[in-house]
Amino acid sequence: MTLPDPGPYPGLRAARAARSPRSSFQAMWRDLAPIGRHAGSGGYRRYAWTGADAECRAWFREQAEARGLAYEVDRNGNQWAWLGDPLAGDAVVTGSHLDSVPDGGAFDGPLGVVSSFAALDELRDRGVEFAKPFAITNFGDEEGARFGLACVGSRLAAGQLTAEKARLLRDGDGVSLPQAMEAAGYDPDAIGPDPGRLARIGAFVELHVEQGRALGLTGDPVGVASAIWPHGRWRFDFRGEANHAGTTRLVDRRDPMLTYAQTVLAARREAELAGGLATFGKIVVEPNGVNAIASLVRGWLDSRAADQDTLDAVVTGIERAAREHAERAGIDVEVVRESFTPVVEFQHALRDELCRVLGKRVRGRRTTDDTGCDIPVLGTGAGHDAGILSASVPTAMLFVRNPTGISHSPAEYAAEDDCVAGVIALADVLEGLACS
Ligand code: GLV
Ligand code: MN
Ligand code: MN
Repeated sequence: MTLPDPGPYPGLRAARAARSPRSSFQAMWRDLAPIGRHAGSGGYRRYAWTGADAECRAWFREQAEARGLAYEVDRNGNQWAWLGDPLAGDAVVTGSHLDSVPDGGAFDGPLGVVSSFAALDELRDRGVEFAKPFAITNFGDEEGARFGLACVGSRLAAGQLTAEKARLLRDGDGVSLPQAMEAAGYDPDAIGPDPGRLARIGAFVELHVEQGRALGLTGDPVGVASAIWPHGRWRFDFRGEANHAGTTRLVDRRDPMLTYAQTVLAARREAELAGGLATFGKIVVEPNGVNAIASLVRGWLDSRAADQDTLDAVVTGIERAAREHAERAGIDVEVVRESFTPVVEFQHALRDELCRVLGKRVRGRRTTDDTGCDIPVLGTGAGHDAGILSASVPTAMLFVRNPTGISHSPAEYAAEDDCVAGVIALADVLEGLACS
């Protein structure tokens, strides 16, 4: 097959010349590596609708076009690269996201997108025929690092976030989502549910770096997802009184920083007691002066648990502690739930199909749990576009081993051999789902 000239983009020549999943993967990984990487931290700052995001999007488009795929952007700014007729229905779709958390790692998101293109290269090298339409996607703003809400692109498409609510989102500088989209050359008036598009998808498979050490412990390069924990984000506003740090007696202070600190400790305690997770990882302080008592401390709680009752217990306990401490210290506290994602159980039929296909490579190795799967089947506390889409589309996930389990950090890592194993596994799965 003849592919279009790759033009000035250097990595595309390598991609076109790729003859193995490893070299295909390596070429794309090299191209993507410098985009949005902060020289000081070594982490990625690829936030929605910024310059780094635009560069990632340009990279996606060039990869699509270099492979002769039909490129399109949907009404919510998600990118698609199609092989076959997008309107025919029963499409097999794979992909992930390219944006990052602040100082994120290289793998969370990009591993899934790069592996998707590499898996297509592998399938073409195998000479298989596609019997169904096939697409690779890059969902916009998965991490919610800029506007505070995760999975904006997939939530909008699935009707889990209304256009009206999305238009109210603002970043830390007060820039609204519509302003940011417009500045990036996208039409914010177009955003909204996309049920017709989702109805034409027969299966969505997202490959992702594991964000834990389960595969490191079992010794498997690749696993299959079972479920995503319920999780959400809550904003805690503690309001006190600004005053002079050098002249205000301790007894006269209404210092919201103290109440915030007590709430952070309570979060840890409640999470330990209930067996869930609770994290305050982001904070805004006003007036933020070293010699002034704060007037406002705004902290964001991220909480997750294996089941809804546990999550409720953790968050209720933290809120109760915050209110008790606030009352004693004369601090006003307001708690707002900014986002919530209920538990996701991935479709068993598709999960079992992945296990059947992947089990052929490891047949007889062992059965890991009551799914009867020959490779590990894992739950996760991390959110994904696949979780959002699972309400509308049969959806499954593959995880690639992360030896340290570290994620949302520059130290996030997966060995190249495992990444290549992930590409082969994804290709096997896609071949089973899409090819005759
Ligand atoms: C996304 O990575 C999340 O789980 O926060
Ligand atoms: Mn992430
Ligand atoms: Mn991710």
